[in-house]
Amino acid sequence: MLPNLQNEPARLGSNENLLGPSPKALKAIEAWNKRMHIYPVTEDVGLTAKLVAHIGQGLTADQVVLGNGSGDVLGVIMQAYLERGDEVVMATATFALYRRVAASYRATVIEIPNRDDFQIDFDGMVGAITAKTKLIFLCNPNNPTGIIINRAEMQQLLDRIPKHVTVIVDEAYVDFADDPEYPNMMDFINAGYPIIVTRTFSKLYGLASLKAGFGFGNLDRIAPVRAIRQVYESGLMMYHGAAAALEDEAHIVDTLELARTGRAYLYSQFERLGLDYIPTQALFVTLKNLPIPAETIVAEALEQHNVILRDAKVFGMPGHVRVSIGRQEDNERGIAAIESILKKHLG
Ligand SMILES: Cc1ncc(COP(=O)(O)O)c(C=O)c1O
Repeated sequence: MLPNLQNEPARLGSNENLLGPSPKALKAIEAWNKRMHIYPVTEDVGLTAKLVAHIGQGLTADQVVLGNGSGDVLGVIMQAYLERGDEVVMATATFALYRRVAASYRATVIEIPNRDDFQIDFDGMVGAITAKTKLIFLCNPNNPTGIIINRAEMQQLLDRIPKHVTVIVDEAYVDFADDPEYPNMMDFINAGYPIIVTRTFSKLYGLASLKAGFGFGNLDRIAPVRAIRQVYESGLMMYHGAAAALEDEAHIVDTLELARTGRAYLYSQFERLGLDYIPTQALFVTLKNLPIPAETIVAEALEQHNVILRDAKVFGMPGHVRVSIGRQEDNERGIAAIESILKKHLG
């Protein structure tokens, strides 16, 4: 059955790239589809080599791990590191997958409530580390707050984390961060800090359903992850599609422009509506201090306006609504829905 694209909701709930997939990736996938019946000739048909060149700064192939989306990479990291009774440390308001997958390995999840300004509580996180702590999760920019840990904060934090802990830095939204103080994690990896960074092709490159992601980091810390990786993490379509997307300059430029103008548009409209938001470095804006319950906004947006928004409760932020940045038409539908819901409830 082919997808029915009529009456598509405005998809502002999953931080997808609503511009669409990279055209170069699509072309590569169409070409390689015809080889769907065979296994890749070599393990990743050159994707790792392309990523090594893309990241640069002396990164080597044995410092890279591929996966079916960065969610898969995060899962394999946890599979490699966690056993019953181990501890992991993370912020309360962050990407929900860490909590769920760590718990599936019977690890104890230590959550540190975010500060009042939504930044993670660095002291609290460091203070929660014990001899049993295996992993600490940092999402940068953070989902669902859109806040970054800047270079100086990262340096101070890394210097306080004991070496038996591996620091996982989820950079799913790295490409949308335009703050000049955003840290370059390769500087820290090259300085010997025990870090694994994860990244995805789901956002900037518009390949959420191709499921392409990767991790890179400190050689010693990534080795146990690579050791349990299957020979073929994925298939020809993923490897070739992702490799093509990396070089699709026009699509990258258009996506970043969409994110930049969409962010400014949402800010201006939220201000017009008198809504508070957390300034973002990611592909979404999260609303705070809402005058009506988040649940009401999200439910009515879908039921009455065919607009998908995200209740940030699932990411540890009840009472907040996360609005993805889409195309102008999607953003306008989102704003119209929110405006109408506010009017209905507040008059
Ligand atoms: C912070 C964060 N990390 C990881 C992912 C997983 O991305 P994927 O598995 O599509 O690469 C997402 C998806 O939305 C995300 O928001």
